[in-house]
Amino acid sequence: MADTFQELIAQIKDRLDIVEVVSEQVILKKQGNHYWGLCPFHKEKTPSFSVNPQLGIYKCFSCGAGGDALSFIQKTKNLEFFPMVMDLAAKFGLEVPKKFKEGSDTKDLKGQMMKASQQAAEFYCDMLLHHKSEEIKIAMDYLTSRGITKDIIKKYTLGIAPKSYYTLYDTLKKDFSDEVLEKAGLILPSKESGKFIDRFRNRVIIPIQNEMGDYVAFGARAIAPDQQPKYLNSSDSLIYNKSKILYGLYTAREAVKAEDGVILMEGYFDVISAQAHGIENAVAACGTALTSDHVKLLSRYTKSRRIYLSFDTDSAGQKATGRGAEVIKEAFAGLGSIKQFDESYISSSNDKYACEIRVVCPPEGKDPDEFIRTIGAESFKQIIQGAPLLIDFQLNNILKNKSQIKTPLEKTRFVKEIIPILQEINNDIVRVEYIKMVATALNIDEKALALEVKRFKALPVQAEEEVPQRITKIVTKNVTVFEKAQKNLLSVFFVTDNHFSFQQINEMIGDTAFTNETLINVKSTIDKLICTVNNVKELIENLYTEYRENADAQQVIADLTSISEMFSNLSPEDFRLVIEENKNKICQLIRNQEKEKLRKLYNNAVDDETEALKIQMQLRDKINKRLNSEKINND
Ligand code: CTP
Ligand code: MN
Repeated sequence: MADTFQELIAQIKDRLDIVEVVSEQVILKKQGNHYWGLCPFHKEKTPSFSVNPQLGIYKCFSCGAGGDALSFIQKTKNLEFFPMVMDLAAKFGLEVPKKFKEGSDTKDLKGQMMKASQQAAEFYCDMLLHHKSEEIKIAMDYLTSRGITKDIIKKYTLGIAPKSYYTLYDTLKKDFSDEVLEKAGLILPSKESGKFIDRFRNRVIIPIQNEMGDYVAFGARAIAPDQQPKYLNSSDSLIYNKSKILYGLYTAREAVKAEDGVILMEGYFDVISAQAHGIENAVAACGTALTSDHVKLLSRYTKSRRIYLSFDTDSAGQKATGRGAEVIKEAFAGLGSIKQFDESYISSSNDKYACEIRVVCPPEGKDPDEFIRTIGAESFKQIIQGAPLLIDFQLNNILKNKSQIKTPLEKTRFVKEIIPILQEINNDIVRVEYIKMVATALNIDEKALALEVKRFKALPVQAEEEVPQRITKIVTKNVTVFEKAQKNLLSVFFVTDNHFSFQQINEMIGDTAFTNETLINVKSTIDKLICTVNNVKELIENLYTEYRENADAQQVIADLTSISEMFSNLSPEDFRLVIEENKNKICQLIRNQEKEKLRKLYNNAVDDETEALKIQMQLRDKINKRLNSEKINND
């Protein structure tokens, strides 16, 4: 058992794998020794966020965010440090001394909210299954008519919220405070009396679980035909962020992994129907459009990142397909293209793709639920198996209307729609094949079409290979020479393959003065830590632990570690030279600064002659000293 809190943190860090931790939120691609992805801390379209698995750290070269696995979890999940550590300790089965636990009730509210949500789900489900009243009968008949059996009700904890204003509140207020129930979105103050009433009334309740299975929110479907809105959903809360949760993922995740693919649907009942009929890898967004966070969530479960879009067949659903595809593409931007052809299509290709989007569009039924209930799950499975890649779907969607073409002008309109799709095809052979196909289908000149596609493609797009150069540019921006030299100097502690011990490096650096407050602070912590740590990884780990509440220092450490990579693979002589050069630069800059300060003082003090004289002499002294030292350096 850990004796100190630091020790506990170290034990947790031992068990955290930075790549795994970051992959929970960011889609990563390996390049050399690092992994790259889109930074989760700011909006970007090409990846400048890197993970260094050797050192257990991450760093964004664009916004500067950086840290270790713990700080990543803390920042992305917006957690308090202490409860997060306690949670992780519990997760890894680490024993925590009692003395650490005292006074930690911060995470209690969230825990209470989840407990209340679970009790609410069970309460509503019990109502539906075991109570009798007119409205419950209507709800049950409604569900039965939709093919929802008792087993399905139990598996998804479906329930009913009766018409009365106080059913749930009266039961749950024995165990939970009003604050907890209100924050969990289960009750709200009535407009008339201001007293709390149930939020959901006369609705079929569909509890929403997060991927760990905690109950965090509810979808509630109207029962009466004129009841509005059709679906009433929980608002976002401390435990629920609808843009990051997918309905059904908890029950689907094993199947998603096993099938290495996920089927994205629109509605709660689509997912329930599909899963209940053996199409277990189906999920849906909860009353919101697909977001890049959803895509990130999914890509953790499917290695091939194979996503089937199975939206409603009406025009709204088809628009959603287009938007969904764009969101997915954007989420993978810079990590490679989307899959554009089957391997079997062309034998000698090793084109890598970042994701695979297929579109499930059955010819009948308004949505998957209806199709499965009327035509059958087996037919739906076959449609999934034959689902075309996004590109084929899009092309077919346009080409299937070609009989409408009556004039050359109409033909051009078709071609215009098709060109952006064709230009996205990276593989030359595949692109030529597609151009041939489209040219034949529309009866147009193949060469002319190829030329148009080429022209369109020539519009500037950022290639993946450009990333490293772009990054160096970003790193050097806005940093003064002075700060750069100081950071360079301090970064040598983080060079993993140098020939010197920490003590030797410290001696070489000597008593060089750092001017930036954070750097001074970090340096003194390094001084302290190098007496106990054994290697760079441990040094970094301990620094992040030390500065867990200090964002500035975290950023500096991230900077230092990335700068240090410039100084790897150096001979002992060159390593020494790096230190010397930066030291000299710093000394020189400090002297210049002091001179400047004196000059200013002198200008202000000319009135007071003796004072002026004194300063003048100091100034001359400084200049002489500098000349001398430069002479020594040059000798
Ligand atoms: N939705 C919503 N609010 C609405 C309508 C729809 O939040 N007023 C969300 C729900 O998550 C719903 C999904 O959008 O499941 C799909 O909408 P729709 O196709 O209208 O619902 P279905 O699931 O087909 O509903 P049902 O079969 O119950 O009519
Ligand atoms: Mn639908």
